[in-house]
Amino acid sequence: MKVLVATEKAFAPVAINQIRTVTEAAGYELVLLENYKDVSDLLVAVSDVDAMIVRSDLITSAVFDAAKNLKIVVRAGAGYDNIDLPSCTAHNVVAMNTPGQNANAVAELAFSLMLYQARGGFVGKSGTELRRKSIGIHAFGNVGKHVAEIAKGFGMDIYTFDPFVIEKDIKKYGVKVCNTTEELYSKCQYISLHMPANDKTKKSIGYHLLKRMPKGAVLVNTARKEIIDEDDLLKIFEERSDFQYLSDVAPDCIALFEERYKGRFIFTSKKMGAQTEEANMYACLAAARQIFDYFKTGNEKYKVNK
Ligand code: 3PG
Repeated sequence: MKVLVATEKAFAPVAINQIRTVTEAAGYELVLLENYKDVSDLLVAVSDVDAMIVRSDLITSAVFDAAKNLKIVVRAGAGYDNIDLPSCTAHNVVAMNTPGQNANAVAELAFSLMLYQARGGFVGKSGTELRRKSIGIHAFGNVGKHVAEIAKGFGMDIYTFDPFVIEKDIKKYGVKVCNTTEELYSKCQYISLHMPANDKTKKSIGYHLLKRMPKGAVLVNTARKEIIDEDDLLKIFEERSDFQYLSDVAPDCIALFEERYKGRFIFTSKKMGAQTEEANMYACLAAARQIFDYFKTGNEKYKVNK
C-alpha cells in the first residue's frame, strides 16, 4: 500500500526522515511530492495511492476524482478548511486532522510577531514591553492554551472568550473569562485570534469589535486571513493611526496596506505558524500513525467528515 506525502510547502528534512522510517517499518511504501508548483503534478501523484498526508494543500473534487485508490487523507495540522469535505465523503474517503501538534509553534509565532512590532523592528528607536499589557485570546483551543502559558511568562494580563470551553478549564490557566466578544475586545490592547475558518467565523472579525480595542491596539492573526472582514480592517486603519495588524500571511488587500500604512503591520510572506522542525515532526508522525491505525483497526478518532 502507498502513502503519499504531498506538500506545496515542504516539511523539514528531519521530519521526512522520521516519516520514512515509520512508514517502511509499518510495511507501507512512502511516495513524496514536495514543493510542487502545479496542481497537475498532484493529480498525477495521487492516481495510485491508498493514503495521503497534506498540509494547506487544496484538496478539491478534482484531486478526489484522480485518486482512484484513496481511502484516507490526513491534514497534518489543525485547520482542514483546505479539504473539500462533501466531495471527500462522496468519494468514500475519510478525512482527519492532527489537532494540537502545531499548537506551540503557532503560539510562539504570535509572540515573535508581537515582540518584533513592540520593539519597532529593532532599528534603534525605543519600543514597548509586553509585561503588564492586556491580551485577549479569542478562542481557547490548543493554540490559545499555549498562548496563555507564554503570556503568563511575559507577565501579561490575560483574558479569553470561548463559549465552547467551560470556565473551570480556562481558569486553571490563570486566564480571566469574558462573557462576550465585545467585552474581550474592549478590555485588551492585544487580541490574538485562534479560531478555525468556517461558515460561522469567516469575516467575523470586523469593525464592531475592532473599534472597541483600547489605544495602541494590536490585532494578531495566526489563524486564517478569511476570518477578518478586510473592508472593516481598512476602515479602522483609516480612522485610528494607533491600530496595528500582525498576520501570518497577508490579507488580500496587501497593496493598500503597503501604500498607506507602512510600519503598522507585519505580514509573513509564506504561512509560517507551523513551520518549525518540531511541529513538522509531531504533525507528520501523528498523521502517519493515524493512517496505520485506521488501516489496522478502523480507528476514526480524528475523522472530520461525516
Ligand atoms: C494548521 O492549521 O495546523 C496550520 O495552519 C498549519 O498550516 P501549514 O501546515 O500549511 O503550515
